Amino acid sequence: MENKKKILCVGLVCLDIINVVDKYPEEDTDSRCLSQRWQRGGNASNSCTVLSLLGAPCAFMGSLAAGPVADFIVKDFSRRRVDVSSLVWQVEGETPCECCLTPPSNEDHELLLSSIRNLPDATAADFSKVDLHQYKWIHWEGRNAEEQVKMIQQVALYNNTLPPQQRITISVEIEKTREPLYQLFPHGDVVFVSKDVAQHFGFHNAEAALRGLYSRVKRGAVLICAWAEKGADALGPDGVIVHSDAFPPEKLLDTLGAGDTFNAAVIFTLANGGSLQEALTFGCTVAGRKCGVHGYDGILEK
Ligand code: ADP
Ligand code: FRU
Repeated sequence: MENKKKILCVGLVCLDIINVVDKYPEEDTDSRCLSQRWQRGGNASNSCTVLSLLGAPCAFMGSLAAGPVADFIVKDFSRRRVDVSSLVWQVEGETPCECCLTPPSNEDHELLLSSIRNLPDATAADFSKVDLHQYKWIHWEGRNAEEQVKMIQQVALYNNTLPPQQRITISVEIEKTREPLYQLFPHGDVVFVSKDVAQHFGFHNAEAALRGLYSRVKRGAVLICAWAEKGADALGPDGVIVHSDAFPPEKLLDTLGAGDTFNAAVIFTLANGGSLQEALTFGCTVAGRKCGVHGYDGILEK
């Protein structure tokens, strides 16, 4: 029964319109892309894709506005067998859309152009309708942090009624350098902090970031920091830094969502009782494979 419980990811879903280019377009030129595709995006949504590919029953919670973009997104969730019963349908605002330029194969940065962001995020009131019994792990992509803290408090109350082995594990991702997101640090059993945030705090590598930021997490928590081609590090309550190198693919094709893939593979391993070292190594392995394919099909092949 415990094994059948799902992993819920709360956060953004958007449409990524991906343009694969052989070089960045220059001003006043008319250039063609090599290919163009629509892809369901957003950190929490991408992590669901990967969890599902790994064979973990999972669900997504976030906002959508009815229309053709939402239709595409819902179809794609269902193709990937992601439970969307906790989607929040907003009556105002538009489903976010990102125009992505995926650059030449050996450059690992992407260019993103976002649409207006006027779609309200899911709230603590929305979250109160979720049947927590279905879940063994809930992951929050840091966004509307104040509301998200209230959601996490609901889970903490629920957990207090249960013996330790039946409690929901809480993870949070702090990816963007936005002050309000930092209030999430003390709320996760597992906290993912990005290279961007680490650098914003003045740290030049993952280990320094973990040592410097660990005082912000709650007692007993694990803090994890991925550092692109340098792999990832983690620090738990025993004070020992755990590291995995990256596993770069033969040819770097598409790094969009590498971090979301890493998070999903780490959560998958820890949720199945794996060690922190196993989780980091698996996270980097699957994220590395993702960098070698366009999109997500093929990330499980060696
Ligand atoms: P993102 O580019 O999505 O922000 P991160 O920097 O968070 O990705 O990296 C997550 C993981 O993805 C890294 O720990 C690493 O394993 C893998 N990864 C990302 N970029 C590369 C790369 N250029 N080469 C190899 N692995 C990479
Ligand atoms: C990748 C991603 C994309 C999306 C963007 C949103 O991590 O989730 O799918 O366009 O980031 O910030």
